[in-house]
Amino acid sequence: MKAIITGSARGIGAAIALKLAEDGYNIILNDVSEKAFENNDIVQKIKSFGVDCHIKIADVSDYEACEQMASEIKAIGSIDVLVNNAGITRDGLLARMSEELYDMVININQKSVFNMTKHIGNIMLRQKSGCIINVTSVAGLYGNAGQFNYSASKGALIAMTKTTAKELGGRGIRCNAVAPGFIRTPMTDKLTPEQQAEMLKAIALKRYGEPDEVANVVAFLCSEKASYITGQIIEISGGLSM
Ligand code: NAI
Repeated sequence: MKAIITGSARGIGAAIALKLAEDGYNIILNDVSEKAFENNDIVQKIKSFGVDCHIKIADVSDYEACEQMASEIKAIGSIDVLVNNAGITRDGLLARMSEELYDMVININQKSVFNMTKHIGNIMLRQKSGCIINVTSVAGLYGNAGQFNYSASKGALIAMTKTTAKELGGRGIRCNAVAPGFIRTPMTDKLTPEQQAEMLKAIALKRYGEPDEVANVVAFLCSEKASYITGQIIEISGGLSM
C-alpha cells in the first residue's frame, strides 16, 4: 500500500503520514521546498514503522509540477491514497485584502486539489481503486471573518470532495474530507493570544485539537472500515459549531 500526503513536512500532514505509516502504508511525503525537511526527523520516524519513505518536492499549486510528480509515481507502480493537505492562511479583512493574497490562497489551497486529484486520480482510475482525502476546514463550512480567501478555498474543497466522489465512485475510488477546527500546529501558533482565547470560548470540549486527532480520522477513512463512506465531510472541531 502506498500513500502520498501533500504539505507533510510538519503539522497535520506529518501526523497523517506517521499514522498511515503505522497502518503499514509506504509513504511519499511532499512539501514545497527541501528546506521544509531540514532539521526534521519525519523520514526517520516513518521508517521506524518498517515502511518505505520518499520525499517529492513540488509546489502543489503548480499544475505541471503535480503532473511530473504523478508521472514519477506511476513509473514506480500504484498509489492507494492521496491526502490533499497542503494549505496556507493569509488572513485579513476583505476591505483590505489584496488581489495577490486572494489568488495565492486560492491557488495553494484549492487549485492544488484540482492538480493533484486530476493527475493522481488518473492513476487511480486505471487501477480502479483508490482513496482521496481532502483537508478542508470549519472556515469552509461556516465562513470566518478575516478569512475571505481561506474560507472560499476551503468551501470549494467541500464541493470538490462531493463531485470527486460522484465522478470516480463508479471506478472504486472513494473521496471524503475532514474539516478540522482549531488544531495546534505552526499555522495556528501564528494567531494572537486574544484570537486563541476567543476560539476556546466557542469550543464545547474547551481545548484545542491535536494533529493526531485529525490523523486518526483520516486513517479510518482510508481503511476498509470506511469502505461504504464517500462524499462525506467529517468535522473534527471539539464541537466548535454546535
Ligand atoms: P502547517 O502550516 O503547519 O503545514 C502546512 C504544510 O504545507 C507546510 O509544511 C507547508 O510548507 C506546506 N505547503 C504550503 N504551501 C505548499 C505548496 N504550495 N506545496 C506543497 N506544500 C505546501 O499547517 P497545518 O496546520 O498542519 O495545516 C494543514 C492543513 O490543515 C491545511 O490545509 C490547513 O488549511 C488545514 N487546517 C488546519 C487547521 C489548524 O487548526 N491547524 C484547521 C483547519 C484546517
